[in-house]
Amino acid sequence: MKTLKMTLDIAQVAMKISVILGTRPEIIKMAPVIRELHNRGFDYFILHTGQHYSYNLDKIFFEELELPSPKYNLDAGSGSHAEETGKILIGAEKILQQEKTDIVLVEGDTNTVLAGALAASKLYISVGHVEAGLRSFDRTMPEELNRILTDHLSDYLFVPTSQAKKNLLREGIAKNVIFITGNTIVDAVHQNLEISRKKVDILNTVHMIPHNYILMTAHRQENVDVKNKLRDILEGVKLISHEFHLPVLYPIHPRTMKRIKEFNLEVPKEITTIDPLGFLEFLQLEAQASLIVTDSGGVQEETCVLKVPCVTIRENTERPETLKVGSNILVGTSPEKILKGAEIMLEKKRDWKVPFGNGTAGKKIVDIIEKESQ
Ligand code: UD1
Ligand code: UDP
Repeated sequence: MKTLKMTLDIAQVAMKISVILGTRPEIIKMAPVIRELHNRGFDYFILHTGQHYSYNLDKIFFEELELPSPKYNLDAGSGSHAEETGKILIGAEKILQQEKTDIVLVEGDTNTVLAGALAASKLYISVGHVEAGLRSFDRTMPEELNRILTDHLSDYLFVPTSQAKKNLLREGIAKNVIFITGNTIVDAVHQNLEISRKKVDILNTVHMIPHNYILMTAHRQENVDVKNKLRDILEGVKLISHEFHLPVLYPIHPRTMKRIKEFNLEVPKEITTIDPLGFLEFLQLEAQASLIVTDSGGVQEETCVLKVPCVTIRENTERPETLKVGSNILVGTSPEKILKGAEIMLEKKRDWKVPFGNGTAGKKIVDIIEKESQ
């Protein structure tokens, strides 16, 4: 592990931390860490890559979660994997050098994460990877490549579970750099559920009755960029709606919207699509749904925390803990299997244990950074 060049001052750790983030889930899951850094008076700044830039995939989360504005925004925008990764790599290198950063923190598995970690490690800056160790064992997923590469570039691997730790040990990563902290999504849910209950009235706005609707999200490249798969997913959710007489609400990711138009697909009338929502609104909709159908990583975790059954429209998951505790089922994308999965999950007793920690991951991560750097 690289040693941090730092000195301690009386109350404050004189080490410069750069939090690199760029997409919706990173903002949400990094928020508890940022809050902790802020409250303890760390010298840190946020470097936003601009991978996500639409208001409702980006700024809305800074506003709702009351996060400080990024000091820099690379405005990398959308593009091919190489374009996104390359632009971020070049932009981040300049800023990290200019800011004389000691440690970079990244979260998750996006192109932002890989590029941020790579830029930092080539400058001999320590990298802390939040949510390290997840594996779907499916290298056709861009996220799986980002996870593996980022983990092997990192100096501090903050894993959510013992399963994630095992994945890293199997790949030869030294055990003294792996720290089980829980997942910061639990912190984010705990910190915001009550605020969401008090502040937002989204169910009325979208005309849904509590515990009487299905919430869906789908945005994975391998699902929505393939016409037949996207059509099957919509068809499968329509079957659930018919069998259980439940309306479906779908806050739709711009990638999926773009593909629906491009493929000339029709969204079944049982599914109401709306623009992506803020975290407080989405959390409220998750908490009161009868069932959630998704291909999102974060949503698999949140449904587990919120005790709402989840049907995952993928062939594999890097969150196997949710399958083990019984909050989630993997069904792929065939309409019949999606319906079958819903039948099973709607019968489930919601008494599973949450395997992602107790909502103190942000605190544990910052404790470790503080201690390890001394
Ligand atoms: C990215 C991540 C994915 C993550 C998801 C979170 C990678 C490889 N993928 O996928 O792991 O689950 O973010 O939501 O990093 N677009 C907009 N506005 C935006 C951003 C994107 O309209 O603010 C549209 C553009 O048409 C763009 C498309 O969405 O081409 C895809 O965006 P991109 O960031 O490349 O991938 P995501 O699907 O968002
Ligand atoms: N989310 C949100 N609004 C929405 C849909 C999702 O705030 O309209 C949140 C959700 O609560 C979760 C995160 O976005 O915390 C998941 O992001 P996404 O599914 O885009 O990415 P993934 O987790 O699959 O990487």
